[in-house]
Amino acid sequence: MRQRRANDGMNTIDLQATLTPHAVAIPSSPADLRPCDGDGVLAAIGNTPLVRFRKYLDRDDVELYAKLEAGNPGGSAKDRPALQMLHAAMTSGDVTAETTVIESSSGNMGIGLAQACAYYGLRFICVVDPNAQPQNIAIMRALGAEIELVDQPLDGDFLSARLARVCDLLEHIPCSFWPNQYANTENPKAHESGTIREIDDALQGDIDFLFVATSSTGTAQGCRNFLQARGRRTKVVAVDAVGSVLFGGKPGRRKIPGLGAGREPKLAREQGFDLVKRVTDIDCIVGCRRAAKREAILIGGSAGGVLEVVRSMQNEIAGKNCAAILHDSGSRYIDTVFCDQWVEDVLGASPEEVQTRQSSPALREVLVSCE
Ligand SMILES: Cc1ncc(COP(=O)(O)O)c(C=O)c1O
Repeated sequence: MRQRRANDGMNTIDLQATLTPHAVAIPSSPADLRPCDGDGVLAAIGNTPLVRFRKYLDRDDVELYAKLEAGNPGGSAKDRPALQMLHAAMTSGDVTAETTVIESSSGNMGIGLAQACAYYGLRFICVVDPNAQPQNIAIMRALGAEIELVDQPLDGDFLSARLARVCDLLEHIPCSFWPNQYANTENPKAHESGTIREIDDALQGDIDFLFVATSSTGTAQGCRNFLQARGRRTKVVAVDAVGSVLFGGKPGRRKIPGLGAGREPKLAREQGFDLVKRVTDIDCIVGCRRAAKREAILIGGSAGGVLEVVRSMQNEIAGKNCAAILHDSGSRYIDTVFCDQWVEDVLGASPEEVQTRQSSPALREVLVSCE
């Protein structure tokens, strides 16, 4: 996780004097920091709405609650681990006022870190590849992030190229720090102390199934750990993408951001969930369109996949209490998920097919594993 210790020997109290005028004092002691807490805009992270979805499913005897993580100020669930990883590094002294934070992200984590770094007056460099959405890059830039574009794949892979660039930047920029969401255990901790605690409190622990999209697996791990520690009966259903290697299999083409992984992240090694379900890109599109039509809400691609997994199981979860974590909003996917031309050009599905599938049985995927 930690690549470069920033300002060894310098404690965070000394730092207060060195902060730039616009910067906010970096908290001086662990006591000042709660796990996923912050001042100003950062204090608005968490406590997102939990909304009952009455119309998404075809049957009304499933209690389905959706955790709307788009309610975070940066627009996604990633605000939580971004802040937590930064706070942990501030507490340990790995991040000080002079630190340059460097991360590889094409979207939500980059925005979450851009937001937190801007608030603390820290320099932030985000390494992206040509697949990053222009809108996300624009948001990061608007928050003061520097964008480092990797335009050539390494061994045929952009992720490898991005990670190589991160290492190169860490090598050459003094006092630099890599949060590394794919290996950093503060990532799941943010969800353990935040996301799932909020859901559990709201539903008083009465949850039969929890549905969560996976990429780093931070969200799903944090939720599972909390539920296990509380001795809850809840079954955690991890939702992955067809073409992801998170739970075995070969890498394949995936076009929905934030869902699945082309390489197994360190954080995801030997992680088990009660159930793993895989969705296709089209399943995600169908879920997003169905949510817009039935629940009048714009949700992001991974959230569409999660809801389609719930729908595919609606008969077996009849009479059960369920919660689904919806990582972000569809407003960032207007030109992709919600654009018929994009769906046709990139995924090869006509508007008619997408329309038909919204009212056909959900999912044509297979159960991957069951523990
Ligand atoms: C939109 C979206 N959904 C789901 C996920 C998966 O979350 P995690 O990395 O915690 O597994 C991400 C992560 O980047 C995401 O951006």
